[in-house]
Amino acid sequence: MTEIERRLEKIYSQTTETERLEIERAAEFIRDGKLVAFPTETVYGLGANALDADAVRKTYEAKGRPSDNPLILHVASVKMAEKVVELNGMARTLMEKFWPGPLTLVLPAKEIVPSATRGGLETAAVRMPDNRIALELIRAADLPVSAPSANKSGRPSPTDAQTVRGDLGSAVAQVLDGGETKIGVESTVIDVTGSSPVLLRAGGLPKEKIEEALGLEVLLPQDKNIIKRSPGTRYRHYAPKLPLLPAKAENAEKTAQGRKYAWMGTSEISGSPVKKLIFKSEEEYAHEVFRALRKLEKSGVEIIIAEIPSEKGIGLAIKDRLNRAAGN
Ligand code: TXA
Ligand code: MG
Repeated sequence: MTEIERRLEKIYSQTTETERLEIERAAEFIRDGKLVAFPTETVYGLGANALDADAVRKTYEAKGRPSDNPLILHVASVKMAEKVVELNGMARTLMEKFWPGPLTLVLPAKEIVPSATRGGLETAAVRMPDNRIALELIRAADLPVSAPSANKSGRPSPTDAQTVRGDLGSAVAQVLDGGETKIGVESTVIDVTGSSPVLLRAGGLPKEKIEEALGLEVLLPQDKNIIKRSPGTRYRHYAPKLPLLPAKAENAEKTAQGRKYAWMGTSEISGSPVKKLIFKSEEEYAHEVFRALRKLEKSGVEIIIAEIPSEKGIGLAIKDRLNRAAGN
């Protein structure tokens, strides 16, 4: 038994019979080409049979997502990943270290993956989520499950089942409810097709941990060539219905320019925001950031001022999401 299989065994041992029945019904929907929303450790996903182009098209339609923005194939075993992508040494090292977990690997796609799933690219993205319901669903469906975040395109990603129902309720056959997601921001996406790993999206797994595991520097996508390879980064994401400005605590009041504002971050401020969300750590900031954006939209403030986090650990992912919410 491999280390990954041992981790999975431990996770599966906690599933109850009632849960299994509900998940089996959902897996049946997936096999039938329908959409099922499910929890992962990062955010909720909008699942479909990744190998069925028609099912995948329904995903794009439900989300209102541009069809050239490829989907992640969620797998429940290394064998399942091998069916859809060409693995290499770097990928295997990272899988053994971090799967199941918030790490997505971009690798050369095998022919079995429909072009619709890959957004027309030669590569495909794979990940093994660290969530019991997600893993049981993929295992029961016995096929890779494609899943973008289960929000309408351009909205903050959902971190609970109720938000999924609000955004996509009418488009899905079933929503599996696993409560609030553990991490709150999406997975880290790494391109491992070349000799150096390239960070396509900062996420739940800190870049530093990947560098430590590989003994290699993870490159940042500075050149246009790389941006082209990560289509998702071209689109505005996580747009709240209110303007958002990232700022340092000491500049919050000045940034608001007299408008009714909400402050969120890990630091206290001395100004007078109408709403204030102070998080105990950057982990908690990540856990709450998307929910906070949706909540503050309805709070009567005119603008959200969000503290710029560090670029270390999970901070980099929060910073990226805030910049995109700000339209930068
Ligand atoms: O945590 C997550 O990753 C969540 C949960 C549901 O697993 N999923 C998620 O999916 O965030 P989505 O579709 O919202 O974001 C997928 C990202 C996009 O930025 C997309 O462009 C990128 O992964 N991506 C997918 N396939 C790719 C490929 N072949 N090459 C480059 N980037 C790819
Ligand atoms: Mg998304």
